[in-house]
Amino acid sequence: MLKLGVLASGRGSNFQAIIAEIEKGNLKASVEILITDNPSAFAIERAKKHNINYIFIDPKEFPTKDAFFKRIADELKVRGVELVILAGFMRIVRKPLIDAFPDRIMNIHPALLPAFPGLHGQRQALDYGVKISGCTVHFVDEGMDTGPIIIQASVPVLPDDTEDTLSERILSSEHKIYPEAVRLFSEGRLEIRGRTVRIKDHPEIASNIINPPCR
Ligand code: GRF
Repeated sequence: MLKLGVLASGRGSNFQAIIAEIEKGNLKASVEILITDNPSAFAIERAKKHNINYIFIDPKEFPTKDAFFKRIADELKVRGVELVILAGFMRIVRKPLIDAFPDRIMNIHPALLPAFPGLHGQRQALDYGVKISGCTVHFVDEGMDTGPIIIQASVPVLPDDTEDTLSERILSSEHKIYPEAVRLFSEGRLEIRGRTVRIKDHPEIASNIINPPCR
């Protein structure tokens, strides 16, 4: 049973998607702790509803960003966490956390990386005028959305899309590929070779690209 630690700053719908797959028995994992930097994150309500431990760690209480991330790393270690899930966590992760969990931190980004990293990936895609966008699950390094890519899903950008409609279409794919990436990790099937993540024994997504049907 893989022990997860989730970091979230807001709504937590990806957190919810992972909880749902665990509860359905599709993902052999447990969420040991939700850590948030936002005391009014809706993710906290989700944790309460599913009897998951949560803590608010206030970044303002720390002299440096590194000290804040050291505190998070210590909390995750104490709870025996094996994989850290960033689920709408609105901060760039710093070295003390990355060093504590090498190749064991995942993030989801609402664009097809390396296109449109950083904030508002959906708006950046619309502004650029691309016809296809999507989402990416990747391992986290010290850069901004730069770590090795695990799974991507594409969605069409439609002529009348607004940031909201495109975000919603991308989000429904996020909810499919994030639990899938965690499941592959839990089964020991992800192998990082340089920038490339190989997925063992998974012919249908051997190319690391899946395209779940969009709504
Ligand atoms: C998602 O769009 C995710 O890709 C991005 O932040 C958003 C989080 O949404 N990193 P939620 O909090 O999981 O609902």
